[in-house]
Amino acid sequence: MAILDIISVPDPILRRKARKVTDFGKDFQMLVTNMIDTMRDAPGVGLAAPQVAVSQRVVVIEYAEDDEEEVEENADTPAAPKKLYVLVNPEIIEKSEEMVLGIEGCLSVPDLVGEVDRHERITVKALNRHGQPTKIKAEGWLARIFQHEIDHLEGIIYTDRTDKVWKPRDDEETPLD
Ligand code: NI
Repeated sequence: MAILDIISVPDPILRRKARKVTDFGKDFQMLVTNMIDTMRDAPGVGLAAPQVAVSQRVVVIEYAEDDEEEVEENADTPAAPKKLYVLVNPEIIEKSEEMVLGIEGCLSVPDLVGEVDRHERITVKALNRHGQPTKIKAEGWLARIFQHEIDHLEGIIYTDRTDKVWKPRDDEETPLD
């Protein structure tokens, strides 16, 4: 297990358009495993390769639906298990017209959060870590995390998409990715 260093703005690697992954060999498998370990250690709900200074199109996301507040409030709902996603060369192929505002943070932008408008529902086409094609429909917070991570592969940081950025209060918890 290796924890990788997470780079922060204004590191120029975060601003590059990342390269497509074509080699799914041993080095790439090691990168994915280390990214998962690094995300869990941070802790974060997502991590894109450029955040660990690797300009390749791969993101890891780990999220349980009940991290979402609305579900948490319903005590009768059993805890949803966390689900791990590894998306290689992801592409958003469908997005809802409906947009939704939410508060985001980013492991590469320390000590800030911001309010960002995102598509409520998206469909993502990607390869898994072994190069097999997969398609995922996501909505709500999961859709938000996917959009945030896929932005990282284009060199886009959430702060590019909003003017409303602030230092969170101590009791203000925001999932980071
Ligand atoms: Ni981020």
